[in-house]
Amino acid sequence: MGFPTTRQRRLRVNAPMRRLVCQTKLSADNFVYPLFTCPGTNTKKPISSMTGCFHFSPDKIAEEAIEVASLGIPAILLFGLPEQKDAVGSQAYSEDSTVCQAIRQIKKAVPDLLVITDVCLCAYTDHGHCGLIKEGKVDNDPTLELLAKMALTHAKAGADMIAPSDMMDGRVGKIRSTLDAAGFSDIPIMSYAAKYASAYYGPFREAAHSTPQQGDRKSYQMDPGNSREAIREMKLDIEEGADIVMVKPALLYLDVICRASQTFDVPIAAYHVSGQYMMIQAAAEKGLIDRDAVMLETLTSIKRAGADIVITYFAKAAASLLKA
Ligand code: PBG
Ligand code: ZN
Repeated sequence: MGFPTTRQRRLRVNAPMRRLVCQTKLSADNFVYPLFTCPGTNTKKPISSMTGCFHFSPDKIAEEAIEVASLGIPAILLFGLPEQKDAVGSQAYSEDSTVCQAIRQIKKAVPDLLVITDVCLCAYTDHGHCGLIKEGKVDNDPTLELLAKMALTHAKAGADMIAPSDMMDGRVGKIRSTLDAAGFSDIPIMSYAAKYASAYYGPFREAAHSTPQQGDRKSYQMDPGNSREAIREMKLDIEEGADIVMVKPALLYLDVICRASQTFDVPIAAYHVSGQYMMIQAAAEKGLIDRDAVMLETLTSIKRAGADIVITYFAKAAASLLKA
């Protein structure tokens, strides 16, 4: 039955009608806000490559965590910077790392805010790769030990969830068994399962000082041309014990998010990454787009594609708007 009996515009007639039939609603409940902690005290330093983001010393980060929680955002994703880098990323798995100090401060100040920690070596190694280097190559298996050790120090410091972002094979299983053996069987793992070798991580790498000194990450992160491989990555991570699987970056990979949500019965997370965030900020600064409208439309598209959880530097701004 077509026009004139069918009229699609009937259900778009006014705001309440549109509200009634809207299928995808953003909520602060599904946001995760990334935060960066750096060594030192009394520090809140703007990150030059990422408008609106800061490096917080552990003693300053609780203030920010309180604000995040007050906006109704349930979780943060914590990244850390070390005091010193070395070939094996020693400070990544030190019980007194910047991240562990920050976790303790945050959990003390806002026990109800979930602290998810990024587990990877790239910010801690002097070569900037996500794993150990042997004969010029990233060496998978010995890296697993260190990642598991890092995850365990975070859990001991009070982290609520572990998010490995390194893309080594087998790390989810190794982290799961290590946590379980140490009595942390209740701590979930959100794996960066389908993580692409994307050029959109640029601003983040400036923030985390984690640009590889040589080469790129293509021997461990995925080729942007592949989607079946993403399904395989996610399947393997779920088999190894991942509770939540992530697609990263979000936007350019909405097809992957869509397939993932139709294929798996675990929650799907998607990471709206630094370069995607900054393209919107930069265009808005130039007066080319309406930042808030583009932000909400963008986050809606990620959720509509099938993401249950959206990790975004816009979490605070979007949550404020949704509250208003
Ligand atoms: C570290 C890591 C990266 C991001 C999150 N964890 C960078 C990378 O893999 O080079 C990117 C986040 C962003 O761009 O917002 N493995
Ligand atoms: Zn890394």
